[in-house]
Amino acid sequence: MRALITGISGFVGSHLAEYLLEHTDWQVAGTVYGPEDNIEHLRDRLELYPAELSELETVTSIIERAKPDYIFHLAAQPLVSLSRRDPWATLANNIRLQLNILEAVARLGSTARILVVGSSEEYGLVQPDELPIKETNPLRPTSPYAVSKVAQDMLGLQYHLSHKLFTVRVRPFNHIGPRQRLGFVAPDFARQIAEAEAGLKEPVIKVGNLEPRRDFSDVRDVVRGYHAALTEGEPGEVYNLGSEQARSIGELLEGLLSMASVPLKVEQDPARRRRADVPVMVSDCSRLRARTGWRVTIPFEKSLRDVLDYWRERVGK
Ligand code: GDD
Repeated sequence: MRALITGISGFVGSHLAEYLLEHTDWQVAGTVYGPEDNIEHLRDRLELYPAELSELETVTSIIERAKPDYIFHLAAQPLVSLSRRDPWATLANNIRLQLNILEAVARLGSTARILVVGSSEEYGLVQPDELPIKETNPLRPTSPYAVSKVAQDMLGLQYHLSHKLFTVRVRPFNHIGPRQRLGFVAPDFARQIAEAEAGLKEPVIKVGNLEPRRDFSDVRDVVRGYHAALTEGEPGEVYNLGSEQARSIGELLEGLLSMASVPLKVEQDPARRRRADVPVMVSDCSRLRARTGWRVTIPFEKSLRDVLDYWRERVGK
């Protein structure tokens, strides 16, 4: 079997590549755009296609050459905050790339299974009586990023219905782990701690809103879930992926601070606060569990420690 991962050198892509190389006998290919440090250690085991995916011809040619049985489409602009500053850039990028993958597969007559990656952000403004969130919940997106994910999700459904493509849609909740870049809460906090420990900055950690409660899982559990969803999921169906536990951003901060080797002062930074931050997001993943048996296994504390160790090593260099 052959897999193609778009965005293989990204945070999630690199973990998925590791998972597939370790747990399957598949040939793993991927498209790369931007820095490749995350896959340096895997390079000689991967088939790489350096490419930007905004042109249909490029995408078609890659799929023609890679001949995938499974496509994990991960390449996307993932930052909610960036999407608020430049809405069209995120909408154009995320929708266009998704459309090109689906259209290329349809035109080539390929039977590849395609994983369409949405987000818990699609649910947006959930009501307290709607928790934990099931896939049947109404979608009330609160950012251009969330709308771009609703569009990807619906394109995945549309191409299944209109072109009979084997798409499986997923809505992952927040995931953390080594290699996640700055701009997300766990690396934003962990890097400041690592820098303070190394004496590179004052022992002060700047934070945004600590009240929201989110459903955090480890990226290594998430990629295992992506594999399960695409190999065992029902075509056209949509699945939540999360830990089914709500933890406040304050708890995440406390967890990291408890592992710090120096005392740190916490300071509110108004620039880090967001408009329309949904108070609580927590998943109900019974649909994917019933179908595949998937559930998260990695404890929250281990994820936090691995994130902090990752940043300790990076700031030391
Ligand atoms: N980034 C960041 N930095 N967030 C902070 C900070 C900070 O210093 N302080 C508090 N927060 C709060 C945010 O206000 C938000 O409520 C929460 O931490 C999580 O923020 P992020 O880690 O940036 O993630 P996100 O929820 O916006 O989006 C992530 O999860 C989605 C799945 O639910 C991304 O990974 C998306 O791509 C993904 O779809």
